[in-house]
Amino acid sequence: MPSTASPSQDTPTDFSALLRAASHDQHSEVRTSSFMSELLGGKLGVGAWTRYTEQLWFLYAALEEPARDLAEDPVAGPFVRGELLRLPALERDLTHLHGGSDRWRQELAPLPATAAYAARVAEVARTWPAGYVAHHYTRYLGDLSGGQIVRDTAEKTWGFARKGDGVRFYVFDAIGNPAAFKREYRTLLDALPCDDAEKRRVVDECRHAYALNAAVFEELGDRFPNAA
Ligand code: HEM
Repeated sequence: MPSTASPSQDTPTDFSALLRAASHDQHSEVRTSSFMSELLGGKLGVGAWTRYTEQLWFLYAALEEPARDLAEDPVAGPFVRGELLRLPALERDLTHLHGGSDRWRQELAPLPATAAYAARVAEVARTWPAGYVAHHYTRYLGDLSGGQIVRDTAEKTWGFARKGDGVRFYVFDAIGNPAAFKREYRTLLDALPCDDAEKRRVVDECRHAYALNAAVFEELGDRFPNAA
């Protein structure tokens, strides 16, 4: 990629490093958002954790339902990996969080911000495989990274069994070595078969993905006064 940063900054040349650098500030923002901070600071009840997990279900349905169709796509296909799929784990978590009943399947509704996020993911999955990669990266690499800190805190805060029901979403059983998996994932990003202009659009879409996450956190924060 050509350099666009000021000469005093290290300009990443690998696309994976560029994506990480371009989203660094937004990552810090979502990580320290009121809702996340209060949730992981132990200030909210398990109900807030449940509402958050419900929103993830809508989002991962949007990410994973088109995965089969994208598996053969030359751009998105290499990223579509069975080991990453989160929906089955999310469904177990939700049934547990709803007291062992799966009535949640009939009762859940997404927050407006979640519906907008899921709609954007569904749209890029249909029309723009490289844009889908931006969303894929933003969620799955995050789940494999900071997600583990989130899981650990949730287990301690609400007493879930270690890697058990309630936090299975964060457990990647089929990935033995997450660090190696992430290295491989970054190699795929570096080899993305797109020109520089398209890669810039992917960076923009990744930033958009962070903004969509921030909007979900904001709406969740509005629901839980402690997090306001
Ligand atoms: C409290 C919440 C969070 C914590 C504590 C956290 C923490 C972390 C940490 C420590 C890493 C670095 C791991 C490494 O270098 O291998 C990381 C990476 C990442 N996180 Fe988060 N994170 C949080 C929330 C989020 C959210 C909400 C998203 C996006 C929706 C996200 C997306 C990412 C991504 C995409 C990476 C990979 C960056 C890269 O190496 O390219 N994180 N996170």
